[in-house]
Amino acid sequence: MRSMISHPRRVGAVWPTSRWAVRDLLDMGDLPRARTVVEFGVGTGVYTEEILKRLHPEGAFLAFEIEPDLASAAAARLKDPRLRVINDSAEHVDAYLEGTKADYIISSVPFTSLPADVRQSLLEAARGALAPDGQMLVLQYSTAVLPDLERTFAQIRRRFSPLNIPPAFLFACSTSETSTESIEETSQPGGAGRTPYVLGSLALGALLLLLGRKLGRRR
Ligand SMILES: C[S@@+](CC[C@H](N)C(=O)[O-])C[C@H]1O[C@@H](n2cnc3c(N)ncnc32)[C@H](O)[C@@H]1O
Repeated sequence: MRSMISHPRRVGAVWPTSRWAVRDLLDMGDLPRARTVVEFGVGTGVYTEEILKRLHPEGAFLAFEIEPDLASAAAARLKDPRLRVINDSAEHVDAYLEGTKADYIISSVPFTSLPADVRQSLLEAARGALAPDGQMLVLQYSTAVLPDLERTFAQIRRRFSPLNIPPAFLFACSTSETSTESIEETSQPGGAGRTPYVLGSLALGALLLLLGRKLGRRR
């Protein structure tokens, strides 16, 4: 909350991502096969923790967080020899990779509230840091970043994760030239079209109703 008040455009969220949305995003990749994983925007470490659970025992994990307080809290809480929490902008990822490339970059940085030059520089740094068959997995609260992703990456898969506040849009981006199509998926098995959007609105509505009732009872 303190970081959000000091740097609202950079932090971009009051609540951490829900564990459902974290899993939905990570399920778009195959982390146990990865040897080098990078995270952009650790925050309170909700992704960091789940990535450590999935990461290969010999994997290396560089996690970037620009806010000093958040970076030091995550580093103190998540002790793991595979993890290095770096208090720097993820734009400088290449310097820390020391010649290797990332199999996955996981990002929950709020691209659309950042200045356009910072957004572009983060996306270009990510593209440059990825191995040829690597992927960048991105969580956003809208699809506004899609044109930037399409300019930067050759292929983008999309998914929707309703159980988050607010509901989240997920993108798996790769540099591979095999297809330039945007392929749409949903997080509901067998779901299609508008279904995930309707479920997301219903989930949000139910949550607001419950909160309203709780507050009403307190008065
Ligand atoms: C929306 S929060 C997400 C935090 C957490 N990963 C989650 O999902 O709950 C975005 C985080 O990205 C960090 N951030 C923003 N710009 C960054 C940059 N250029 N490099 C590294 N971290 C950045 C912010 O400080 C913030 O902690």
